Amino acid sequence: MRQKLNMLTGKKRGKPLAYPKPLGKKSMVRDELTQVHEFDTSQVEKRKFLKGSRDTIICGDSVEVMRNFPAESVDLIVTSPPYNLKNSTGNGMKDGRGGKWRNAALVNGYSHHDDCMPHWEYVRWQRECLTEMMRILKLDGAIFYNHKWRVQNGLLQDRQDIVQGFPVRQIIIWRRSGGINFNAGYFLPTYEVIYMIAKPNFRLAEKANSHGDVWEFPQEMNNKHPAPFPVRLIDRIISCTNAKLVLDPFVGSGTTAISAIRNNRHFIGIDISPVYCRMARDRIKKQLSEPTLELELS
Ligand SMILES: C[S@@+](CC[C@H](N)C(=O)[O-])C[C@H]1O[C@@H](n2cnc3c(N)ncnc32)[C@H](O)[C@@H]1O
Repeated sequence: MRQKLNMLTGKKRGKPLAYPKPLGKKSMVRDELTQVHEFDTSQVEKRKFLKGSRDTIICGDSVEVMRNFPAESVDLIVTSPPYNLKNSTGNGMKDGRGGKWRNAALVNGYSHHDDCMPHWEYVRWQRECLTEMMRILKLDGAIFYNHKWRVQNGLLQDRQDIVQGFPVRQIIIWRRSGGINFNAGYFLPTYEVIYMIAKPNFRLAEKANSHGDVWEFPQEMNNKHPAPFPVRLIDRIISCTNAKLVLDPFVGSGTTAISAIRNNRHFIGIDISPVYCRMARDRIKKQLSEPTLELELS
């Protein structure tokens, strides 16, 4: 087999792994999104970019920023994208009434993203994000991609259209406390999902597999961001890996960065909103000024 030389590591490589796997002709996702972006020019510059970005929050569009990263340069990606909730049918999210979401922080969308794309545009965007994440992930790396299933026009909409063709190894159920019941026709929704999308050599840290695949953490209440992660959820993910550098391309208020610091790892965070980037930087500064605490890991 013809082998290429990886300009960064100098190691010989076989055919690049193709993620996502090509979809059938009937797929509604455009063909170009099934391509892996091959890393080609200005690699030295790109290496410098990565070095200069370590332990920082970068304000910008996640796909644009990730394009500056060298291939196979990040150990772990933990992220929760916008869920496109404002285009939901029913429940008042779309028209801003809020409905039973009256108190939901996301009724107004994010500060710099309206969370209301046509569904297939949203799917295409998320697949583009995942493709770029796969390109920059090391061969022993993994993506923990948090999302939520919902009911649209009376039918369950899982997120298979986004993750199809990517190497999903496991789905972790994040059981939250309580929830909001929209409709007497459904049971109260109480969980979100975390897709573990893993490259071939990814392994969990020693004994981490004993946590099982249903995790219970209450949602974060003490954070001004409209959709923050609970820090302990991210502590669970990061501490279950041997990753040295953790990326969150939708970092919001900086929870992934905070958890990386608590777990003694390097981080890079990206967000489009200058408001949330400032929030993240303030949290990081505060975290760094606090004395190191023993982590309570359950
Ligand atoms: C679900 S929130 C992430 C919250 C984060 N996990 C936390 O703990 O605070 C999604 C984030 O994606 C950001 N976002 C939306 N569009 C983006 C884009 N094109 N590039 C980067 N970030 C974007 C939003 O500003 C929002 O903060």
